Amino acid sequence: MDRHIQRLLNRISLAFAVAGTLALFHVFFSTSVSCSYSGHNLHHHDTLTQTIAHSPFPRSSCDAASRPTLPPDRRFSRIQSSRSWRRGVAALSSLFLRLRTAHLLSNSSRILCVSSGAGHEVAALRESGVMDVTGVDLIDFPPLVSRADPHNLPFFDNVFDLGFSRGLSGALFPARFVGELERTVRNGGAVALVVERCGSEEEVASVKGLFRKSSLVEVSNITLSDSQMTLIVMRVNEMPP
Ligand SMILES: *[C@@H]1O[C@H](CO)[C@@H](O)[C@H](O)[C@H]1NC(C)=O
Ligand SMILES: *[C@@H]1O[C@H](CO)[C@@H](O)[C@H](O)[C@H]1NC(C)=O
Repeated sequence: MDRHIQRLLNRISLAFAVAGTLALFHVFFSTSVSCSYSGHNLHHHDTLTQTIAHSPFPRSSCDAASRPTLPPDRRFSRIQSSRSWRRGVAALSSLFLRLRTAHLLSNSSRILCVSSGAGHEVAALRESGVMDVTGVDLIDFPPLVSRADPHNLPFFDNVFDLGFSRGLSGALFPARFVGELERTVRNGGAVALVVERCGSEEEVASVKGLFRKSSLVEVSNITLSDSQMTLIVMRVNEMPP
């Protein structure tokens, strides 16, 4: 009789242990899901990250939050060795080659990349031989991207030859976002934006309308890592009198 009860108790405690473990797993997994795009999404998530879940541009706050103990250089070298990183950088490299052919950038250009996430564009430009590339985003991502608000860039006027961003559609204040690019790029320089595919003239015009002192150079439909996007290039002019 006694032994029978003992065995029953053992079973009950085993059942509790299993239930406890399952509960822990549940907590763990629901936490890792819920952190995915909270808040961060508001600021700079461009269409690339929103439209393709498994994008080669890792940008969710999970990337930063899930490995708090990994030092930045280790974190970066891990990302850099991934296939998706290479794919993302390669896609941008061919985009920049196109801008190079159009004489919008050269090895000696000073380039500002706004809302650049982990810095794919910075890596692509540096690899192609451009020395002076600055990458910024709301959240810093060493070593390629430092922290700066795209709506309030910490740079003087007219200092860059080219401003580049894939982050317009994630901007809280698009006019302000574009205004800061226009301010920091010199007269005669260019601003190149990659936005969600524009299906109509009106959509292109709405982006163009955010600029106050630039004129349209090029609108092209492009495919960037399987996403249908539109490249809009504007030439920054002297402020009209
Ligand atoms: C730009 O720099 C890269 C790397 O140094 C070099 O291979 C390339 O030839 C340069 N391009 C031009 C147009 O000078
Ligand atoms: C881009 O593609 C859309 C359809 O997806 C088309 O309506 C538009 O005219 C194209 N724009 C250019 C510049 O080719």
